Amino acid sequence: MDKIEITGGDSLNGKIKISGSKNSALPILAAALLTEEKISVSNVPNLSDIFSMLELLRSLNVKIIKKKNNIDLISSTPKSLLAHYNLVRKMRASFLILGPLLARYGNAKVSLPGGCAIGNRPVNLHLDGLEKMGVAFKVEEGYITGTVNGRLKGAKINLNKISVGATENLIMAATLAEGTTIINNAAKEPEISDLSKLLIKMGARIKGFGTKKIIINGVRKLNRCSYKIMPDRIESGTFALCVFGCGGKVKLENVNNEICNHLIKVFKQLKSLELKKTDNGTSLLIQKNKNEEISLSVKTREYPGFPTDLQAQLTASLLKTKGRSEIVENIFENRFMHISELIRMGANLKQIGSKIIVKNCKKLKGAEVMATDLRASSCLVIAALMADGKTTINRVYHLDRGYENLEKKLKLCGAKIKRVQS
Ligand code: EPZ
Repeated sequence: MDKIEITGGDSLNGKIKISGSKNSALPILAAALLTEEKISVSNVPNLSDIFSMLELLRSLNVKIIKKKNNIDLISSTPKSLLAHYNLVRKMRASFLILGPLLARYGNAKVSLPGGCAIGNRPVNLHLDGLEKMGVAFKVEEGYITGTVNGRLKGAKINLNKISVGATENLIMAATLAEGTTIINNAAKEPEISDLSKLLIKMGARIKGFGTKKIIINGVRKLNRCSYKIMPDRIESGTFALCVFGCGGKVKLENVNNEICNHLIKVFKQLKSLELKKTDNGTSLLIQKNKNEEISLSVKTREYPGFPTDLQAQLTASLLKTKGRSEIVENIFENRFMHISELIRMGANLKQIGSKIIVKNCKKLKGAEVMATDLRASSCLVIAALMADGKTTINRVYHLDRGYENLEKKLKLCGAKIKRVQS
């Protein structure tokens, strides 16, 4: 298993090209199942989660031609509509093939994804919504089998909790359903808007994406199209927090206006972090000004609130800041696996229930640490860049799930970081 070695203490200065969004690419790749025609997707990040989704789609008779960050997909009728446990357990977003398979073929057998390091991750909202559209489910031996008598039917679905994945699965299912589907309390993440724009290019009729009420009028068939994936919002936020923690000045390129506005808003309390849109919103200049005492209070929320996917990185970036900050994790019940590893580096952290108290630590020192999940691993990278001495991060396969060329991007900005094959 690869490790990453970092010698901390340097500020970051230079440019970083932001990759395409993992959390937009995954549902968009799954959407290729909705048509027999060719879907061409560009700006797809080279990440292990993407490769897992491609492996799953190949097992469902999707022909895939991949050239660097561009992928063509042609989905023909598969011999079996089974998404195997080995593939789904590796990458939970595999569950996003359920809606497309039921819409296209009226049948699907998908392994229940199970939990992960950050929580038990139920899928009841996906299933309840699909049942309202006419799917009959049965669960046996860890698999859920869905069957539809004829065609999915449009339905009015009230999600009792905001869920990105459930919203995406239901939108995709509804595109080919008979009649109109209304999804109330829908998630508003930009990745859902990106998926919706792709589906509309394929001929779907969708209104209200990006708001809490989405209306889909089903059509008989979807068609070929080409589409460019939006930039990665969380990667952008992660690098901004690297600069906050280490100091320096970095220009993030290949972003967009929505990402710039969102990060400027959610980082407002970080007074000494200056974020400035440039190049008509396709770049974001990040600069850390003088260190000053900050005592912030942040609660993670669904979009457009502070993203849960940046909680761990924010915690790490505050470790050497004077003051006392509170961060409350409201989305996942166990997104705290990074706390103990940060404490081993000398962090002054306390977890009380879902609240993390961050105080200035006297000395943040490099150590041998263990990555436990995707965002926890990027948080350890931030802490290592800030610490004195050398840090070795184990199990960096977690990092490779969601960050493309991370070491290269940071090295170009002056970080002492290298990957060690072991
Ligand atoms: C998506 O996961 C993202 N993953 C996550 O990013 C992100 O943290 C999450 O949305 C929240 O923004 C992808 O897009 C591939 P949810 P998802 O359904 O869809 C509960 C990363 O680091 N819930 O919005 O699985 C659930 O337990 C990953 O890139 C139910 O109760 O998240 C959680 O508490 C991690 N029942 C809350 O809703 C359900 O049926 C939000 O989950 C579904 C979800």
